[in-house]
Amino acid sequence: MRIVILENPEQVGRAAADVVIKAATRPGFRLGVATGSSPEPLYAELRAAHQRGDFTLQGATAWALDEYVGVPEDHPERYRNVLRRELVGPDATGLREESLFTPDGLADDPALAAHEHEQGLSQGVHLQILGIGSDGHIGFNEPSGSLFTPTRVNVLLEQTRQDNARFFNDDISQVPALCITQGTETIMRAEQIVLVATGSSKAKAVAGMIEGPVSVVCPASVLQQHRNVTAVVDEAAAAELQLTDYYRQVEAAGLEDPIWL
Ligand code: F6R
Repeated sequence: MRIVILENPEQVGRAAADVVIKAATRPGFRLGVATGSSPEPLYAELRAAHQRGDFTLQGATAWALDEYVGVPEDHPERYRNVLRRELVGPDATGLREESLFTPDGLADDPALAAHEHEQGLSQGVHLQILGIGSDGHIGFNEPSGSLFTPTRVNVLLEQTRQDNARFFNDDISQVPALCITQGTETIMRAEQIVLVATGSSKAKAVAGMIEGPVSVVCPASVLQQHRNVTAVVDEAAAAELQLTDYYRQVEAAGLEDPIWL
């Protein structure tokens, strides 16, 4: 895993955007996209690069990591709507609405909707953008029994609902109990992964992901077993790491492929 430690969320967004911009030149680019606040600076950078003419998702497809079950179609926090605002259209990144694939959280049969999303992801994306939950989740894969799961309906942990209440009028009762999420197996199929984490509330999860044992207690730790992950974190999120000096030395050495370390 390549570990990049920067001062603040803006720098994190810029560095992660560079990874996306470089990868996006591939024909038929398939991008996995996260929601939540962590990727917002990254998406702002992508929009700015699109406006400068340096980047476009016009010919790409984008695949959501997850979606709440039961959030109304016009709700601003429905993940499809969030991603539409962040990425779709010529004023954003050039992504076409019909090229944005999100699990259908309003389907009569959410398990079938999850299965359909999984089928769309059978080849894996070229690049997956991830955030991390304070409990170590990626997508909405909460700490539980397996690190080898497909896209499925899952139950949100109380901690996650509390963390996300800020998007629902600070009222946890409005946060859905269920979601559809890409599984860890699905995420691991991505050719390349860039994970962004900022703020002290992520410090414990980041330490578990990078230096902890690979364990269901911290689902993000499964990324230690992927061959091409870049974790871009700010100082606050890096605060509980033990080997920060070494990670900085590796970055300073400017090796061509520090992800292999
Ligand atoms: C969102 C997602 C989640 C978030 C995580 C962090 O699509 O899959 O894993 O990345 O909950 O959320 P924020 O960035 O809001 O702290």
